[in-house]
Amino acid sequence: MKAMVYDGPGRVSWRSVPDPGIKHPADAIVRVEAVTICGTDLHILKGDVPEVEPGRVLGHEAVGTVTEVGAAVQNLSAGDRVLISCISACGTCRYCRQSHYGQCLGGGGWILGHLVDGTQAEYVRVPFADNSTHKVPAGVSDEQMILLADILPTAYEVGVLAGVVQPGDVVAIVGAGPIGLASVLTAKLYSPSHIVVIDVADARLDAARKLGADIVVNSRTQSALEVIDDLTSGLGADVAMEAVGIPETFEESVRLVRPCGHVANIGVHGAPATLHLEQIWIKNLTITTGLVDTHTTPRLIELVANRQLDTAAMITHRFAMAEFETAYEVFGDATRSGALKVLLTADPNAKTEAL
Ligand SMILES: NC(=O)c1ccc[n+]([C@@H]2O[C@H](COP(=O)([O-])OP(=O)(O)OC[C@H]3O[C@@H](n4cnc5c(N)ncnc54)[C@H](O)[C@@H]3O)[C@@H](O)[C@H]2O)c1
Ligand SMILES: [Zn+2]
Ligand SMILES: [Zn+2]
Repeated sequence: MKAMVYDGPGRVSWRSVPDPGIKHPADAIVRVEAVTICGTDLHILKGDVPEVEPGRVLGHEAVGTVTEVGAAVQNLSAGDRVLISCISACGTCRYCRQSHYGQCLGGGGWILGHLVDGTQAEYVRVPFADNSTHKVPAGVSDEQMILLADILPTAYEVGVLAGVVQPGDVVAIVGAGPIGLASVLTAKLYSPSHIVVIDVADARLDAARKLGADIVVNSRTQSALEVIDDLTSGLGADVAMEAVGIPETFEESVRLVRPCGHVANIGVHGAPATLHLEQIWIKNLTITTGLVDTHTTPRLIELVANRQLDTAAMITHRFAMAEFETAYEVFGDATRSGALKVLLTADPNAKTEAL
């Protein structure tokens, strides 16, 4: 088969590798029909995730059809259409028993495209297949489904639920990349009074407005603090979500919230950020961080199936899987290309053959 193989920092190529096979009885093999690229894949390419070894097939998001299951798989069979979650789950460890699959101690967690070969391939071996996939309901397209593998549950769990968004809230979202935009979509489920999105790129702010932001602020030219103060009589936002991952935006998110407000940090940070306890100790803030668990994926699937959540609006570019290298270039140059999420699909002829 063909796959997107990491060959060390800055080097990735679409090339032939051996087909995956069942290695453990809980595995399934899935033929990938729709797959996307995550900002984390770009971090891997930069060499920021050193545990990813050269030769690794990248990717942790996909929709496809099961072609083979191991002897211990109970709920899946060949022909089932599934969403592959970015988080795998052994299902039996202490954390999995509490739905904290991201922290799985039994060999799961974020492993696909990280510690084992991932989804940017024609076929993928999915460990712990019963607990690491979700059946796609009839009538839901691959396009709608694919964003539920990672960015929607991340935004919803680590942003909206951890931030405890309530009806009528003023919600500030710092960063309008795919994660910030998915936070807009999922925050709207709770009827906040205002969603204020802050970014430094006008194209991203335009996308935020289209997806439902009430107010957008380019923090290069306007003070987000002044905008939020005007909106809240100087009190501050009820919830601020950090969706960039740099010290300055974490510190800004803390400044934007009112006393007793919530700061939900979603960003992955590569450098220490300063927590100004000398200023905020008196404000009774709740500050949360987290890696996605994907325990809300079944709920998000219901929302998509019932047309209460339109995720496909975030897909800006489409490619065939044979064009994977170009897709990486387009996604990696988002400032110029305007890319939010790119969708890669299997060759339709090959698809007919496999089904
Ligand atoms: N916690 C988790 O489980 C989890 C999962 C996936 C991604 N993430 C993280 O979430 C963050 C966002 O992901 P993404 O894919 O949307 O990233 P992205 O890089 O596509 O988007 C970041 C956005 O921040 C904006 N930005 C940059 N500097 C800014 C500043 N000073 N002020 C305001 N905006 C600024 C950029 O213009 C861009 O639109 C990343 O740090 C990513 O690693 C976390
Ligand atoms: Zn990801
Ligand atoms: Zn586990």
